Amino acid sequence: MKFFLSLLLLLSSLIYAKDKYLDNHSCNECHEKIYEEYQSSAHSKGYFNDELHRKIANKVSTKKYECAICHTPMADNLKDLVEGKARPDKNNKTHTDAVSCFFCHTIAYVKKSHKYNINIKARQAENYKPTLYGRLIKPDDSDKHSSSKNPIYGKKVCMGCHSHKLNDNNVTIFQAMSDNQDSNRCIECHMPEIAGGAEKMDKRSRGQHASHKFLGIHDKEFRTTGMDINISTLKDSITIKLTNKMAHPLIIQPSRVKYLEVKVIRDNKEIWRNYKNDPKEDKEVFFEYRFYNKNGKRVIIPANSYSTDSTNLNAHKSKTITYKNIKLKKGDIIKATMFVRFAKRDCQSVIDLEDNKFKKAFILKESVKIFK
Ligand code: HEC
Ligand code: HEC
Ligand code: HEC
Ligand code: HEC
Ligand code: HEC
Repeated sequence: MKFFLSLLLLLSSLIYAKDKYLDNHSCNECHEKIYEEYQSSAHSKGYFNDELHRKIANKVSTKKYECAICHTPMADNLKDLVEGKARPDKNNKTHTDAVSCFFCHTIAYVKKSHKYNINIKARQAENYKPTLYGRLIKPDDSDKHSSSKNPIYGKKVCMGCHSHKLNDNNVTIFQAMSDNQDSNRCIECHMPEIAGGAEKMDKRSRGQHASHKFLGIHDKEFRTTGMDINISTLKDSITIKLTNKMAHPLIIQPSRVKYLEVKVIRDNKEIWRNYKNDPKEDKEVFFEYRFYNKNGKRVIIPANSYSTDSTNLNAHKSKTITYKNIKLKKGDIIKATMFVRFAKRDCQSVIDLEDNKFKKAFILKESVKIFK
């Protein structure tokens, strides 16, 4: 029996080994621009170069690395990582490549599933160069790979990892997409067409390509485009309307917190603010996911939580808040600023984050009005 099992394992690993993996850097030879963009993107970050990810992963388990399914999906020993028989290895390209070029471009189908969706990879024919999928019309082949247009690709390609994730107790850890939402809109915002051919020579003179920077919340300019902050005033009240313009909730990542600060400034002095010491005091505009243990007590790491609730603002939804009894005078400056913390303060109580970007709040968007 044991013999058959190991024979089976050997066979399956042989079948696997036939899948030739082309690492990220190998694409640089012809897709120089795209490679450079990708290197600056969140998809190139994982266990070894994303401190927040690594520290939470180690807090969840120092044995099993289940995160690999989405964060290091190309791992040549994925099953072992998930089951705790191997650890992330910084000398293994299929680990350091994080969400790799080859992985994204060989997704053949995305299967809907309860806990999280599953990326089904294309089977590559033995002894042939791999076929990479995309959305180019009549793409050229190269000596490294064949190319093929795959309609499933544009429609579903983001759903495999970004749709939703539940923990073992059926608690939703994040939900970025609803059930029947496709990926086309995600691509429109996060991968806009920019100048330069898809490959170095631009033999087909396409002149532009889809940006692989995957700009998101870490980009100062881009992140201002996700919401509107509208200020209106009466002589004794301020009304703020927040509108989420994105195709997903305001908060996706449970480690984040976003909050609004509203101030009235008169003669260079702050005369009113919507909270005294802690932004949390203004619950209406403090956006976060919260997790609880079996006894209903707050926990920070969501992996083992038993329930959750959130203050969030869903896709394309607005929220209006009115602050009363503020006696405004002509010339008063009303400033409404939305801030984001990449790792909420509570995170520091369970993990020790060194990077300064996790220690302060950043401006997401600011809006100013002068009372007339
Ligand atoms: C079902 C797929 C999936 C699994 C499994 C998964 N993640 Fe993620 N993770 C994502 C996606 C998608 C994002 C990007 C979403 C975002 O930033 O809002 C992300 C982002 C993150 C971030 C934010 C990165 C940063 O620095 O800004 C952290 C931290 C993180 N994940 C930790 C983990 C850990 C730890 C595990 C394993 C215990 C895990 N994830 C398992 C899909 C997954
Ligand atoms: C030897 C050069 C070369 C290398 C190396 C190379 N490619 Fe390509 N690739 C091309 C050419 C040429 C095209 C066609 C471009 C066109 O039609 O405008 C292409 C097209 C593509 C397309 C578009 C497919 C479609 O159907 O829309 C994708 C995706 C792609 N390559 C991904 C990759 C990835 C990922 C790597 C690294 C693993 C890689 N390529 C390495 C030359 C190369
Ligand atoms: C194989 C899984 C996977 C697929 C497929 C995938 N992503 Fe991601 N994405 C991730 C992970 C994991 C992260 C977080 C990485 C980190 O920061 O540690 C992420 C992060 C992001 C971010 C956050 C950038 C930031 O800095 O705020 C954006 C935007 C994004 N992905 C867009 C997309 C889009 C658009 C698609 C579809 C074209 C897509 N992703 C497909 C796994 C995936
Ligand atoms: C209308 C433009 C728009 C569309 C459509 C859109 N996004 Fe975003 N997304 C943004 C902006 C702007 C940000 C950064 C600002 C923010 O997070 O508040 C962002 C942030 C993100 C982040 C990072 C969140 C974090 O906290 O790390 C991820 C992941 C993401 N989007 C994935 C997706 C996916 C998947 C889709 C498709 C369902 C999608 N986006 C559709 C505009 C868009
Ligand atoms: C998170 C998934 C993801 C990753 C990772 C990724 N791509 Fe793409 N790529 C896409 C999507 C989606 C498109 C199609 C965008 C469109 O058609 O608007 C695309 C398009 C392309 C194209 C065709 C150009 C075009 O304008 O459509 C090439 C070439 C390409 N990618 C190469 C690469 C290379 C090289 C890497 C790594 C350096 C990479 N991709 C990493 C999702 C990904």
